Amino acid sequence: MANALVSFRLNTGAMIPSVGLGTWQAPPGVVGDSVVTAVKIGYRHIDCAQLYGNEKEVGNALKKLFDEGVVKRDELWITSKLWNTHHAPEDVHEAMNGSLSDLQLDYVDLYLMHWPVSMKKGSVDVTKRESYTKPDIPKTWKAMEELYDSGKARAIGVCNFSTKKLSDLVGISRVPPAVVQVECHPVWQQHQLHDFCKSNNIHLTGYSPLGSPGTAFFHADVMKHPLVKSVAEKTGKSPAQVALRWGLQSGHSVLPKSTNESRIQSNFDVFGWSIPHDLFSLFSDIRQERQMKADFFIHEDGFHKSLEDFWDGEI
Ligand code: A2P
Repeated sequence: MANALVSFRLNTGAMIPSVGLGTWQAPPGVVGDSVVTAVKIGYRHIDCAQLYGNEKEVGNALKKLFDEGVVKRDELWITSKLWNTHHAPEDVHEAMNGSLSDLQLDYVDLYLMHWPVSMKKGSVDVTKRESYTKPDIPKTWKAMEELYDSGKARAIGVCNFSTKKLSDLVGISRVPPAVVQVECHPVWQQHQLHDFCKSNNIHLTGYSPLGSPGTAFFHADVMKHPLVKSVAEKTGKSPAQVALRWGLQSGHSVLPKSTNESRIQSNFDVFGWSIPHDLFSLFSDIRQERQMKADFFIHEDGFHKSLEDFWDGEI
């Protein structure tokens, strides 16, 4: 098959499929069908999280796919994430068990700490200062390492970490993070983090690879960027395919979210062709701006006093 799915090797030895279906903002009642559609098209990687509120439906879709013999468990890559309210060590285990139960799985291929922030158990309002407790990343990571030891998570990693926070984690970890999942697309390319990952054998996965158009705090529609559009015209591909292919050629995996069958299909048509070198090199001229700034975590009198502090200058 000319367009066979490409994978990246992690520091655990496992191969992570380079294109995964994102399920953030995929509404209940729709997400299950999207997962079934994607797997039938050839996707082998589904990105989930407890926070997305749809893991039960994803689990039902996975069971259907296994029962019907469409795919076997060991042919799929399933990621889930630890929400901020479950950073206490015992709660890490509880959260993992909850996601496994909802997903109807014995293990996940990857379990990620969703944010480097800790919220009180039971708190729901991310904007309220009172929702937060002091993060203790080393302690939470130790519990993540226990999940890895137990086999419930075959790889562990983090999301939304700055280069400094990732470097601090590498410094204290017994099991090094295998993956860092962050916002990454042509308008926020993460060069510094990419370089750190390369020299520390950590794989980078890009979320919002299309710039999450329509999401409140995402203002740069990557698919409407003039360079992305012009490369699409020159290569005969769609702007979405160009944005995704740019990610693969930059060496990271991508998680396009779609609940629309034809877009799920076209977002997977990113293998067997490439953006020519002269066009690829133009992407480095694009003005950079983080979209997911996560202002809601910032409180002057809190644990994260400014965006500068939260992202350690990478803003
Ligand atoms: P839809 O689910 O209706 O396809 P991101 O992956 O960067 O978070 O972007 C997801 C958003 O982009 C969703 O609103 C999704 O809508 C839309 N989208 C996904 N694929 C495409 C595509 N190929 N062309 C245009 N919009 C897309």
